Amino acid sequence: MVDEVPWFLEDADEPGGERQGERLQKVLAQRGWGSRRTCEILISEGRVTVNDVVAELGCRVDVDDDVVCVDGVPVGIKPDLVYYLLNKPDGVVTTASDPQGRPTALSLVPECPGLHAVGRLDMATEGLLLLTTDGNLTHAVTHPSKGVEKEYLVQVDNSLSSGALRALRDGVELDDGMTAPARVSQPEPGVVRIVIHEGRNRQVRRMFDAVGHRVQRLIRIRIGPIRDNKLAPGDWRKMSSSEVIELSKACGLERYAQRP
Ligand code: URA
Repeated sequence: MVDEVPWFLEDADEPGGERQGERLQKVLAQRGWGSRRTCEILISEGRVTVNDVVAELGCRVDVDDDVVCVDGVPVGIKPDLVYYLLNKPDGVVTTASDPQGRPTALSLVPECPGLHAVGRLDMATEGLLLLTTDGNLTHAVTHPSKGVEKEYLVQVDNSLSSGALRALRDGVELDDGMTAPARVSQPEPGVVRIVIHEGRNRQVRRMFDAVGHRVQRLIRIRIGPIRDNKLAPGDWRKMSSSEVIELSKACGLERYAQRP
């Protein structure tokens, strides 16, 4: 049984001392690591370290300076980390600024220092794009070794033959090498659903070129566990804590199973 910190002490200053930052379980809970109770369990099981020292229940952290890890994995603990999910419309660039003055993904969401897109979509590609200030998450989601799945709907010039579908599934030769096996289906003639876990430049368009088809419309409908078919083009929303946790798990950033 875990000794819970009584609620009336949770935000109290250390007896006779200076206030030394925020309670660790409160900070972890704010950052989406579960309820305070879940975070207390993590701490009491010795799975949380602060600056390489196993943390004690009720200890305080400086959210600017302390390095907090869960199971050895650094966690972002700054309360101002933001996570947005945008449905990027056609004609919007993913780069931070555009010399030609075209609209950017960043201009569609609230301004925030350090906010950046997680990976990129071509200007003509529509669909889900994550924007965050959390560099750890960006690194993990975009790193090829993590194999985070991305699912696309592709509208092509005409129906793909079974040979073309098989080639996309098995891997096609691009100028930067063979593509990894993909999950591919054609729910209706000329509409293909493809799931890849690499993130090469213009990969889907180049794969379809390689099997002799021109992409007419490309929409990303899923990033790892994140999907949202109700978000209208150009709209954005904050990601929920559980979405951030699920995405972190999908790219190996959080190695524990969440408890109730
Ligand atoms: N593949 C592409 O070809 N373009 C994108 O924008 C994303 C994946």
